Amino acid sequence: MKRKIRFIAIVLLTFSCRDKITIENIVDNHRHTHTDLGTPGFPEMPIPVDNETTEEGIALGRKLFYDPILSGNETQSCATCHQQSRAFSDNKRFSVGIDGIAGKLNASAIINPGWQSSAFWNGRANSLEEQAVEPVENPIELHLNWEDAVDRLKRHDDYPGEFQIAFGTTHITKDLVTKALAQFERSLISNQSKFDKFLNGEIELTPLELAGYNLFLSEKAECFHCHVRPLFTDDELHNNGLDINPDKGHFEVSSYVYDKGKFRTPTLRNIEFTAPYMHDGRFETLEDVIDFYSDSIKTSITVDPLMPNDNGGFHWTELEKLQLISFLKTLSDTSFINNPDFSNPFVE
Ligand code: HEC
Ligand code: HEC
Repeated sequence: MKRKIRFIAIVLLTFSCRDKITIENIVDNHRHTHTDLGTPGFPEMPIPVDNETTEEGIALGRKLFYDPILSGNETQSCATCHQQSRAFSDNKRFSVGIDGIAGKLNASAIINPGWQSSAFWNGRANSLEEQAVEPVENPIELHLNWEDAVDRLKRHDDYPGEFQIAFGTTHITKDLVTKALAQFERSLISNQSKFDKFLNGEIELTPLELAGYNLFLSEKAECFHCHVRPLFTDDELHNNGLDINPDKGHFEVSSYVYDKGKFRTPTLRNIEFTAPYMHDGRFETLEDVIDFYSDSIKTSITVDPLMPNDNGGFHWTELEKLQLISFLKTLSDTSFINNPDFSNPFVE
């Protein structure tokens, strides 16, 4: 029966449309515009085979990212804690969800997430699609059960049509919502920093910045091993020596004691905009972070072998600290935090 109706609909549409729409298009009725997320100088972005990136999917994901419809009392969206002006993080040590309850972790910045093989500080999600399930139902974040979320979208005036355009079906599911969100996130590419322009030979770094870059690459700091160029993360988990007795981190996922204190290496791109720092937002400024690596690294059984093991640190001079911070600021990409393609589509 359903087939018959679909056949009649196709025939009617075929004859009623003046445009040259092929039958294939009508059966499918979505556009599948392929988006090339290739980025010069970066590795190729791995795209899941079951969620190719399309302009339509990105546009839908962007709306969902900014729409408070995905929160219990319709007051918060993903963008409440992931603000573009802060490179998709927030300025709080611990973000506060719709019920006024703060979590125990600092909101991650979302920068070039398409290259990550896992997500969350402790690496518990294996994809952006998987990650996006959690904030909606998390009682200290958007606090809405998925059934209700999907129900609201189904009853909405616009969303069924937009899912049709993006995915070829008005049958909205949790799976498709997270796919759209992930597509938008993959489009959040930052590669226009001063450092990128320096690599392209467009501009020079100041002597201070250049000295900081050389220090970053040297054994006097060892930063580059984990904050690997060009993404400034190695996509791995490490204990960088924050605590003497670490008890959190990837251990919470694996229950393996040697994973205590291991967290995903965050990118250093746009680090100037994402304070406070570390998984628990313990450092307010970049100066605090540099002071930590210089003089307060803690030794423990899981501390990374690259870290000095004398319960101290790299012991830099004030000038060296200044050089490192100047270099880190060359990773700021103002076009990323101002890119109109990433902004709130409801206020255009
Ligand atoms: C109440 C604040 C809040 C809201 C709302 C929120 N997040 Fe988050 N987000 C966080 C915090 C805090 C973390 C770090 C949590 C952790 O690692 O366990 C995080 C982590 C993430 C990460 C992991 C990034 C990485 O590098 O590992 C992604 C991606 C993300 N959120 C996307 C979203 C999406 C999509 C939504 C909306 C569906 C959303 N967030 C809603 C606070 C929030
Ligand atoms: C052994 C790997 C490793 C090395 C070497 C390393 N880091 Fe890190 N870095 C990490 C990890 C892991 C984190 C996150 C730790 C956490 O939150 O528990 C981090 C966090 C940071 C942060 C905070 C990022 C944020 O978004 O909150 C900054 C800034 C930083 N590192 C800069 C540096 C600098 C500068 C150097 C060189 C002096 C350096 N790192 C060396 C692994 C490393």
